[in-house]
Amino acid sequence: MQMVDKKIEDYCIAKSNLPSKECDRIEDYTRSNVHGSQMLIGKMEASFIGFLLRSISAKRVLELGTFTGYSALAMAENIPEDGEIFTVDINESTVSLAQKFWNQSKHGHKIKSLIGNGLDIIPTLKAPFDFVFIDADKRNYIDYLKLAVPMLSPTGMIVIDNVLWSGKVLPDTELDMSEHRDRNTEFIRLVNDYIAGEPTLYGTLLPIRDGMFLVTKKATF
Ligand SMILES: C[S@@+](CC[C@H](N)C(=O)[O-])C[C@H]1O[C@@H](n2cnc3c(N)ncnc32)[C@H](O)[C@@H]1O
Repeated sequence: MQMVDKKIEDYCIAKSNLPSKECDRIEDYTRSNVHGSQMLIGKMEASFIGFLLRSISAKRVLELGTFTGYSALAMAENIPEDGEIFTVDINESTVSLAQKFWNQSKHGHKIKSLIGNGLDIIPTLKAPFDFVFIDADKRNYIDYLKLAVPMLSPTGMIVIDNVLWSGKVLPDTELDMSEHRDRNTEFIRLVNDYIAGEPTLYGTLLPIRDGMFLVTKKATF
């Protein structure tokens, strides 16, 4: 399910600040050579995340789901010289590809790659983080969120990707049989419902690409 008309999205991309040529190289290589290339966040989402990072002056970032390094590099381009991106992935082969691309960028030194299961690695990291991007296995989304919330800096935010899951999160009656829900749909519904019902969190779910949930700790005014 395409959330936004392709021509509208292309126009938005044409008018937005975008990731660098180095990111384009990762995108092009991944789309031509790597299985699962649809997992890349792409230009529109990368531009929006860059805007968010700049708007909160983020310096310490945690990413769950490195893949071939596109989103990590796009984020590194939007934090200061002494900023750090800690990015976690379980797949050594895609991460070694990512590292080769990062080495060719002047922003690559900001990225620290951590190999292993996100659930094991997060508790070993030093808080706080200004920004957490959750884009790894959907099964563990809810646990990634619960681990990340206490690690946020006072103005920190969490972005969770793919929360519309091609529209499959809608009630079954709203879907064509061809788009019948799969195993991950339940995990994504779980995290969406948790945020919606959790009074200590402020969440905004946006229909950008495959759905992005922006989450922060709710301050009381
Ligand atoms: C959607 S891709 C990440 C895409 C990347 N953020 C980008 O846009 O360039 C998801 C990644 O999560 C990784 N992954 C899956 N299970 C994981 C786990 N338990 N812990 C850490 N990473 C995991 C996969 O190996 C895969 O590379």
